[in-house]
Amino acid sequence: MHRATQTALYEWPHIVGPAVTRQCLKCKAPMRQSLRAYSVLPPPRDSEEKEMLARMIRVDHAGEYGANRIYAGQMAVLGRSGSGPLIQEMWDQEKKHLGKFTEIMADNRVRPTALLPLWNVAGFVLGATTALLGKEGAMACTVAVEESISEHYNSQIRLLMEKDPERYTELLKVIKEFRDDEMEHHDTGLEHDAESLPGYWLLKNAIQLGCKAAIYASKRL
Ligand SMILES: [Fe+2]
Ligand SMILES: [Fe+2]
Repeated sequence: MHRATQTALYEWPHIVGPAVTRQCLKCKAPMRQSLRAYSVLPPPRDSEEKEMLARMIRVDHAGEYGANRIYAGQMAVLGRSGSGPLIQEMWDQEKKHLGKFTEIMADNRVRPTALLPLWNVAGFVLGATTALLGKEGAMACTVAVEESISEHYNSQIRLLMEKDPERYTELLKVIKEFRDDEMEHHDTGLEHDAESLPGYWLLKNAIQLGCKAAIYASKRL
């Protein structure tokens, strides 16, 4: 084979790679450009459905973004401790979740919430301050946040099932898979002594109140 042709063929992925893999301008998560017109969401029937789906994706993206920042804060404090690998493992799954919602947003031209800069700081601060209470503090934060996110996903699953399960099959698959991951993170927190933190219930309720407010705001702004 001619040398130039060989080079062109073998180096093709490297040549096209940077052009295809982009980053979300706001959250910096890797964004894959889909070749299909849509991936997970059906083409909207009307403006009402379009708005409903956009709100769902926007708030889910915001939640996964916040979760990533929480784990980043936890790792900044506990990364070198014995809990580091466990926290990193959960963080890696959050990166996957965020990447998926970033991709769905790009495919469907859904804008992210205007509150991302706030969740950037608030998530990191929450993760780092609870981690300063020790491993139990970090795990208590994980239990509180993951329970809230799981409940949020469950309410979306209920809504989509009531509306039209067949129409939303792909979206349901994504949300159910992520809900299961969040439940696993929640259980991991409990297995690693979250409840032995003094003031656990107080902290858990305070964090969950914050999560509810964040979900409410991210749907609307
Ligand atoms: Fe997640
Ligand atoms: Fe999670």
